[in-house]
Amino acid sequence: MLETLIEIGRQARHSIEEAGDIETLEKVRVTVLGRKGHLTEILRGLAGLPIEQRKSTGEQANVLREELERMIADKTATLKRKSIGEKLAADRIDTTLPGFPFSRGRFHPLRQTLEEISSIFVSLGFSVAEGPELETDWYNFEALNIPPDHPARDNQDTFYLAGDKRLLRTHTSPVQVHVMEKQNPPLKVIVPGRVFRNEATDATHSAIFHQVEGLAVDERITFSYLKGILTLFVHRFFGANVDLRFRPSHFQFTEPSAEVDIQCTICKGAGCRICKGTGWLEMLGCGMVHPNVFKAVNYDPEKYTGFAFGIGVERFAMFKYGVDDIRLFYENNLKFLEQF
Ligand code: PHE
Repeated sequence: MLETLIEIGRQARHSIEEAGDIETLEKVRVTVLGRKGHLTEILRGLAGLPIEQRKSTGEQANVLREELERMIADKTATLKRKSIGEKLAADRIDTTLPGFPFSRGRFHPLRQTLEEISSIFVSLGFSVAEGPELETDWYNFEALNIPPDHPARDNQDTFYLAGDKRLLRTHTSPVQVHVMEKQNPPLKVIVPGRVFRNEATDATHSAIFHQVEGLAVDERITFSYLKGILTLFVHRFFGANVDLRFRPSHFQFTEPSAEVDIQCTICKGAGCRICKGTGWLEMLGCGMVHPNVFKAVNYDPEKYTGFAFGIGVERFAMFKYGVDDIRLFYENNLKFLEQF
């Protein structure tokens, strides 16, 4: 029995030493120390031995078991260390390799312009409202004092839905009406949004473009308030040294009406191709809210006055950044967009 033990020990030590990886080592452990392992079987068979033999064999067997368990534990640790080392060596990252370039995301220039316009008015106490792109004749025209025979209603200017009274809004002004239907004065809102005109696309026209509408209603709002707000806005947007002028104009929903021109940002007022030699660029329409618009939303025109304006976002972006073709904004050409 003792000889068997010695033989088991000899073989086991040898196998443990020889084991080159964890799996092989585990097999050795199972063969010797597992439930049906050689040593386990001897330990189990002790009960059947005469008392003297049982004691000495038992002692020896236990000593051997402890020794083998320790050896296996040590060897396991060694093998693990070795395999981690091998992995590290194989996976070594060469930190001196050059990286690959990737471009940073950014907002579209129109979105940037829209945000800049909005933040100026928000800082002046305006809140931001939105309205539907699909409108009815009432909101887009009638409530805005645009009579049925007005040329703006022509199919050539407006996209109508087939077999339907609805249309794609031609300006953001209908949202003035929505806002006034829902709120009572005093109010100060801006309305950024997309608008649609049935016209051919060229360097300065697009069938889809963006506006920011403005509306302020209260008792005693005057034209000088409008002038002050828009002057401040233009100076913040283009810089305090840019000249502007208010030129009489006509809109059905404002009276009096004006258009704001700024000094040409390209030639600084000297006259060039872009400003058609005038030195001035038309930038926005504005005026005092027409009493008929107040009547349409049940505001008392004797009590309230207000001003409204409509800013063309594309125009502002073009003159701020010196972009000479509106179509560039819609082509999603990265070479263009990455400059902003
Ligand atoms: N809605 C007008 C347009 O699209 C602009 C405007 C808005 C003019 C508000 C006056 C007041 O041309």
